[in-house]
Amino acid sequence: MCGIVGYIGNREAFPIIINGLKRLEYRGYDSAGAALYNGNLIIKKTKGKVKDLEALFTDPKDKEGTIGIGHTRWATHGEPNDVNAHPHVSNSGNLVIVHNGIIENYDSIRQMLTSRGYTFQSDTDTEVLINLIEDVMKKENVKLGKAVQIALNEVVGAYAIVVFDKNNPDEIVLARLGSPLAVGIGKGEYFIASDASPFIEFTKDALYLEDEQMAIIKKYKEPEIRNIKDDEIIAPYIQELQISLDQIEKGGYDHFMLKEIYEQPNVLKDTMRGRVLPQKNIIKLSGIDNNLNKFLNADRIIMVGAGTSWHAGLVGEYLFEELARIPVEVEYSSEFRYRNPIIKENDIVMPISQSGETADTLAAIKLSKEKGAFIYGICNVVGSSIPRESHSGTYTHAGPEIGVASTKAFTTQVNVLTMMALKLAKEKGTISAPEFNQYLTELENIPQKINRVLENDLYIQQIAHHYKDAANFLYLGRGFNFPVALEGALKLKEISYIHAEGYPAAEMKHGPIALIDENMPVVVIATKKGQYEKVVSNIQEIKSRKGKIIAIVTEGDEQVKKLADHVIEIPETLEPLTPLLATIPLQLLSYYIAIYRGCNVDQPRNLAKSVTVE
Ligand code: G6P
Repeated sequence: MCGIVGYIGNREAFPIIINGLKRLEYRGYDSAGAALYNGNLIIKKTKGKVKDLEALFTDPKDKEGTIGIGHTRWATHGEPNDVNAHPHVSNSGNLVIVHNGIIENYDSIRQMLTSRGYTFQSDTDTEVLINLIEDVMKKENVKLGKAVQIALNEVVGAYAIVVFDKNNPDEIVLARLGSPLAVGIGKGEYFIASDASPFIEFTKDALYLEDEQMAIIKKYKEPEIRNIKDDEIIAPYIQELQISLDQIEKGGYDHFMLKEIYEQPNVLKDTMRGRVLPQKNIIKLSGIDNNLNKFLNADRIIMVGAGTSWHAGLVGEYLFEELARIPVEVEYSSEFRYRNPIIKENDIVMPISQSGETADTLAAIKLSKEKGAFIYGICNVVGSSIPRESHSGTYTHAGPEIGVASTKAFTTQVNVLTMMALKLAKEKGTISAPEFNQYLTELENIPQKINRVLENDLYIQQIAHHYKDAANFLYLGRGFNFPVALEGALKLKEISYIHAEGYPAAEMKHGPIALIDENMPVVVIATKKGQYEKVVSNIQEIKSRKGKIIAIVTEGDEQVKKLADHVIEIPETLEPLTPLLATIPLQLLSYYIAIYRGCNVDQPRNLAKSVTVE
């Protein structure tokens, strides 16, 4: 993970680097650092957040300079301390680097460099890489760009790097393999970052380096892009950015997570805009329309993802099997990629990802492609690696999600999967035309029904206050609500650090029931469709063991109300659409519990939003 920023041009680099790093903190926040050149090479770095780094720049002189790089770190090699923080400098003190990724063969390179007299201050793979580049520069008598290229051909691993030489401060060199890197193009100036958010107020023109590409960037000159392996020159492909500044700011909310929870009615409208058309009784999804035969002839769909995206896949399994009668398997991409899975020609592999950069999911795509599968990506970040590696797909249009705990990304993924399942159900004739129309009309109602769920905010705050000191939580649901229970538990543990488990309600009897006593809050999703009566029995079993019950019920429910300690009502909907509503109160519950416990909800400890390493 880690976030990297760079600037070369005529402006002061310092504010661009610091503000850019703040926007990239979602990628990691164990330590932060920056390097600027203003006649002297100024390097400051510290364990902790970007604001701690900013505070180190007390002397205005240190902030001067029109070239700079910065880094916010999610630690892989070496504990997060000041020394291991990036940027790292070569032994001569001339070259400086920031790096996102892992150099797997760093140990053998370090030994080789040590035998050649190099010394190392940190435990990082990055310091090894910058010294390898320096060694190549000296040995081969080449310029920085060439040295970077030669060095990268010797390393094994993943990287996005930005490097400059203080003796040539008009040039900056960058390269990528496996970790993202965007370049914002201004008038004679360039902004470099892990994603486009650090530079959207400066330019809407951007290019994205592809894997195994590097770029040599000089002020007022066209960027020179090359393939790292064969040195081929690549013509820059400049795209217009679609995101705006207010999308990546908090807009009056205390936290990004709360803003993103509240954005859900609107972003779901965006997800469905131009796609769900009840008047015409159609769902338009060009990815499916263009590949309809593949879907109609598919023997199986394999959904792969990590974290919350894997949970969306589980909802997808229920949706596709129930509505379109297509067999679905859902796999953790990290397991799938290493277990020699059986993939046949008529299988569709469907990676699901918010960021589009999750390393395991990308590896799962690569493996599936090698085995001949058709790849249909479901992704939020436009132009990221997963959609680029997929044969076709559907964007979720959730807009930038900055809170590390995923909220709107999940509901929009579920929304896309719902649209896909319905469309295929119609094409296959597994649901009738009137049924299909009922779904479309109801899908259109979902955003305003989410608004009604959000009206429970104050009541959910009270429940959160009541249970804020619990040591454990159990989440139970059946059918479509089972993945919702998993997602609810994940949200709570991610941001409040309370141990929480999600379970299919009936499985409670096979283990978790042993944990239930008067101190165990159990969140039960007990909406009025599906196996409602069975869930009510499960609630009774909890009650008779004195567990505390927080139930998510359908508006007007009387039965569960009598049994539960707290009930949160959600509007009635068609059963397959329930996850789109039932998820919302669970997001708010974990948010407020985390707030009452004083946790940093947007940047929970040890986590990062985008996991670009294994
Ligand atoms: C990390 C994030 C999660 C996310 C998961 C998968 O763990 O913290 O919120 O669900 O990665 O990420 P992706 O971008 O592939 O959906």
